[in-house]
Amino acid sequence: MSFPKDFIWGGATASYQIEGAYNQDGKGLSVWDMMCRKENAIWNNQNGDITCDHYNRYKEDVSLMKKIGLKAYRFSISWPRVIPAGTGKVNVAGLDFYSCLVDELLKNDIEPFITLFHWDYPYELYCNGGWLNNDSPDWFAEYTKIIVDKLSDKVKNWITINEPQCFVLLGHKDGLHAPGDKLGLSQLTRISHNVLLSHGKAVQVIRNNTKQPCKIGFAPVGNAFFPVTETSENIEAVKKAMFNMQGTDLWCNSWWMDPVFLGKYPEDALDNLGDCSPVIKSGDMEIINQNIDFLGINSYFANSVKADKDGNHVIVKLKDGHGMTGYDDEFTLTPETLYWGPKFFYERYKKPIIITENGMSNRDWVSLDGKVHDPQRIDFLMRYLSDLKRNINEGIDIQGYFLWSVLDNFEWGAGFKQRFGLIFVDYQTQERTIKDSGYWYKNTILTNGENI
Ligand code: GCO
Repeated sequence: MSFPKDFIWGGATASYQIEGAYNQDGKGLSVWDMMCRKENAIWNNQNGDITCDHYNRYKEDVSLMKKIGLKAYRFSISWPRVIPAGTGKVNVAGLDFYSCLVDELLKNDIEPFITLFHWDYPYELYCNGGWLNNDSPDWFAEYTKIIVDKLSDKVKNWITINEPQCFVLLGHKDGLHAPGDKLGLSQLTRISHNVLLSHGKAVQVIRNNTKQPCKIGFAPVGNAFFPVTETSENIEAVKKAMFNMQGTDLWCNSWWMDPVFLGKYPEDALDNLGDCSPVIKSGDMEIINQNIDFLGINSYFANSVKADKDGNHVIVKLKDGHGMTGYDDEFTLTPETLYWGPKFFYERYKKPIIITENGMSNRDWVSLDGKVHDPQRIDFLMRYLSDLKRNINEGIDIQGYFLWSVLDNFEWGAGFKQRFGLIFVDYQTQERTIKDSGYWYKNTILTNGENI
């Protein structure tokens, strides 16, 4: 059985990770440009100044996407490339780049899916308080309007914000991502509230200014868990793990998704946070709870859980020797991620789901035969897509899958150590090589997943 006939088979990237041209044609600096200049912030002190040079090579890259047969391409816009200071004067050359990219995609029958924010925040706005500044939602709305006015005659699929958990917590709590801050809980909840308000305001701007009917989504990290054995108690424990806030852990799915889809913060979270809860002004939750069209889920791995004697969930460590991908310890080979995660996200929010990111890092290189053989990635994708298909066969409305990533690219704190691409990038020569998995994905798309 194949996937639904109009299933969206895509690939994803993000601006800072592939564009390079960090100061070309009037682009402003982002917090990631600055983070990479901090000694030892990034593996081997690498940076995204050039990376895949996609800004200058986008036509070649789109032709490779066409060769792979992508139906859709999810990319993000660099806010400071379009508005160098974050607000005010627009950089026409930056805006024109994205317009030309969209034209190239459409010319090749590839549907653009634009993510408005994928972490490269304007450095000048950061210096003005960044997400802590209660004007930040209006800054984001102003930026959104510039993009929608320019592109919405050609673009009809939008994602407001990518993985707020990552840039808020890794970037403002742990100091591991840009801007590298380590703030307190009250500041983090204020930032998270401003981020959610930004999402809501952006949805309002898109709805009020789009030049054609369009679909809008939100793409948080989809933290998934799976039952160590499929008993009813363990399955209930999975739901608790997915939606009950543990202490004051803001990674919790419901902290981000409940306001967007249910119009309120989870009660248990507010109880746990107490005085550190965000200040919620009258009307805030209505702004955040705009009606959107899909829940984007970025999901790579899951932890296994079981119910303890009181029915609480307990994380069960994977057995020694469990399958590992190339990315350190947590990115395990756990295809259950794409069954149990979407299943319970759909049950709770009753919103169509698009897998906006899934894939694996592998220790790829160009073999002596000039090809890039990546059987691990093919097997990984077979397993994950098989679990996703199980959901679809059970009636869950899953509308698409964006493989992370189209190109090997700059993997944030890990720099170029991690290769996620269907296309191998030689960062010295900028030569691209479609990997075996790229050709496998081509066939998967051609057969609409019958090979899964
Ligand atoms: C994320 C980001 C991507 C990463 C990818 C691999 O999910 O962290 O959206 O930019 O590169 O997920 O970690």
